[in-house]
Amino acid sequence: MSIVIENAKQHIGGIVRVDKADLLKPEVIAAAQAALEDRGVLVFPELFLTDQEQLAFTDAFGSRVNFSKTVPGGNDADDPDVYRISLDKNLEPEYVLGTWFWHIDGITIDQPLPKATFLTARKLSPEGGQTEFASTFAAYDALPQDVRDEVSDLKVVHRMMTTMRLVYRELTDEQEARYTRMATEMVHPLVWTQASGRKSLVLGSHADEIIGMRVSDGRALIARLTEFAAQPQFTYKHEWQLGDFVVWNNHGVMHRVMPYAADTGRAMHRTTIMGTQRLGHPLKELEAV
Ligand SMILES: [Fe+2]
Repeated sequence: MSIVIENAKQHIGGIVRVDKADLLKPEVIAAAQAALEDRGVLVFPELFLTDQEQLAFTDAFGSRVNFSKTVPGGNDADDPDVYRISLDKNLEPEYVLGTWFWHIDGITIDQPLPKATFLTARKLSPEGGQTEFASTFAAYDALPQDVRDEVSDLKVVHRMMTTMRLVYRELTDEQEARYTRMATEMVHPLVWTQASGRKSLVLGSHADEIIGMRVSDGRALIARLTEFAAQPQFTYKHEWQLGDFVVWNNHGVMHRVMPYAADTGRAMHRTTIMGTQRLGHPLKELEAV
C-alpha cells in the first residue's frame, strides 16, 4: 500500500504518509476517504500542492464547490474554485475574523452542507494561526444517555450574524445588511443522524437559539454542549508547517483558528467538496408553515 495513516489522537486526527506521485491513485483516494470518516481530520505534512494538484485531489474526492462566491475579494488565487484565506487588506477581513470561533463551514448557506474542506498552507504567520478541530461524532458518542434523550429532537437556528457579533462590539447598519445578504438564517437539527447511521452534534458560534426554548435556556444548552465537545480528548490542534495539506470532514468536526496578526501575510488556499444531504431549512420556510 502506498499510503500509511497514523492516529494523531485517540478520537481524532490522522497523519498521512504518501508520495505526492501516488496521491491520485484510486487505492490512495479510497483509503483517504475511509480515514476521513474515521479520523475527522487528515494531515498530509509538507505536501506543497499547487492549486491544480489540490484541485485534482479535491475532484477525486467528490464534487467541487466554491461556497464563498458571495464573499468579496476571496477569489484571487489562480483558479476561481480556489479560495484564498487571508487577512490581506483587499479581502473581507471580517469574514476571516469570524473563523477565530468554533464553526462549521457553509452552515448558514441554503444548500447541502459542504462535505469536506481542503487547505494548503501557502504562507504562515510567525505566531498564532493554528487550526483546532473538535470531533462532534466523538462528542456525541460520549454524551450521557439522559443528555442524548434531552437533545435528540431539538432544532437550532444558525445565524452568521451571531458569529459576527463576537467579532465587533456592535455592528453597523451597513454590516448587518451585508451579512444578511451573504448568509441565510438556517434551522438545523442539533443531532444529525447521517446516512451512515452515525450521529454528530451540529454546533458552533453561529448556533443562536433552540426552537421552542427560551433564548436564555437554549443558549445555555448550546454553550454546555460546545464546552463538552471542545474537551481535549475530542480535539486536535494543528501546528501548521509551510506546505501542509489538511482535509477535514465538515460533517463531523467543527473548527476554529488561533488569532494571528493581519500584517503577517498568512495565506491558506482552500477547496471544498459538496455534500449530498440537505441538513436543514431556511428559518423563513419554517415560519411560513
Ligand atoms: Fe472554516
